[in-house]
Amino acid sequence: MLLSEEIELPCGLRLPNRLCKAAMAENLAPGPDHKPNQKSVTAYGQWADGGWGMILTGNVQISDAHLGGPGDVAILSHASKDPSPETKEVWKTWAATCQRSGTPTIVQLFRQDNRASPVKLNFGAGILDKLAATLLFGTPREMTIEEISGEGGVVDQFVEAAKQSFEAGFKGIELHGAHGYLLAQFLSPLTNLRTDEFGGTPAKRAEIVLRVIRAVREATSKEFCIGIKMNSVDAASSESLDDVIAQIRLVAECGIDFIEISGGSYENPRMMVGDGTAAPPANVKKSTALRESFFLEFAQTVRKEFPQLVLMVTGGFRTRIGMEEALKSGGCDLIGIGRPATVKPKLPKEIILNTSEVPDERASVALVPYQAPWLVKKFPLKLVGTGAANMQWAGQITRMGDGLEPSASLLETTV
Ligand SMILES: Cc1cc2nc3c(=O)[nH]c(=O)nc-3n(C[C@H](O)[C@H](O)[C@H](O)COP(=O)(O)O)c2cc1C
Repeated sequence: MLLSEEIELPCGLRLPNRLCKAAMAENLAPGPDHKPNQKSVTAYGQWADGGWGMILTGNVQISDAHLGGPGDVAILSHASKDPSPETKEVWKTWAATCQRSGTPTIVQLFRQDNRASPVKLNFGAGILDKLAATLLFGTPREMTIEEISGEGGVVDQFVEAAKQSFEAGFKGIELHGAHGYLLAQFLSPLTNLRTDEFGGTPAKRAEIVLRVIRAVREATSKEFCIGIKMNSVDAASSESLDDVIAQIRLVAECGIDFIEISGGSYENPRMMVGDGTAAPPANVKKSTALRESFFLEFAQTVRKEFPQLVLMVTGGFRTRIGMEEALKSGGCDLIGIGRPATVKPKLPKEIILNTSEVPDERASVALVPYQAPWLVKKFPLKLVGTGAANMQWAGQITRMGDGLEPSASLLETTV
């Protein structure tokens, strides 16, 4: 079975199998210090012993001045360049716990900020959706070049966060370049209207990402894994496909160890298809959506161009057969699993890779479709519905942090 085969990434990191726990914000590290803590360690202990091939942490903010959620792990922007001894210690404990059973763990780094260009967020066409976008986020001020690549700017912040991960003993980092966050905004022509060295062509829109990759490599080691999560092409025009392929080429040439394909944005959460939160992307054939992974077709297109690239696809995988088929199709090398990992932290060991006890037809995890509460249904804001759906999965991670078994009520069938 391909799923249980080891794979070696270009940096030399060996993953014992192909199942990856996808990045999910844990919301377990409140301010003011946003350090990982005992709850983070307790939660990750469950994933650590689950037989995963790779664990990706939830997004770690490269600056606490731009949090995605109040409980994000974050690098303190006002701290001196060196984190305190206490911070270093808890990061080491976190890394050691994640990897105590031999699963390499990668820290996902991101910055929540919508300032590539002064483009308002778009939560929908409704008047209330527009009003919410204006009231909550306003029209952003475009970042200056100094804020991007000057001392202490975005590139430096990624490097500092990567160094902290490296020194703690994590095996690598993944840049969050998907879901509409800062790096994704730079990559996309819809949100990057710049005409300077960071915008104007696909290559210039990718420039910030390339600088981060080179600088992180320089500041860590050639054995340190650097991956990136990128969006599939949501707008199905061949022009945008050419742009994305051109950007992937640059990222690949820069020495990336894997690319994770996802899609959607927090304005339009297509990555959350499959539990009733969102419809499949328009460019995904119905058959693919049904077959399970919604971003696999795009990954297959990428594969044709880049046969050597290590590709991970995340979104919608629920069965051993579907996962194995995806690997066999050649569309991807790694399978990312998000929501099922919150209700079945030991999914690989107990079910997917447990071929001696669980036959193929029962090797699956089905999630109960999200049922919006009455009040949320009545609320005419997409943003509210999305947030509520996400909270049910986030709640499972909270339970893990408290040392509780995840609630089985979100599983439709189990073995
Ligand atoms: C509670 C929750 C938190 C998430 N946080 C992140 C995150 O921090 N970074 C990220 O790249 N994706 C995040 N995601 C998206 C997942 O990584 C994944 O792409 C998505 O859940 C689709 O995969 P699935 O169908 O296997 O759940 C999150 C998803 C959930 C449910």
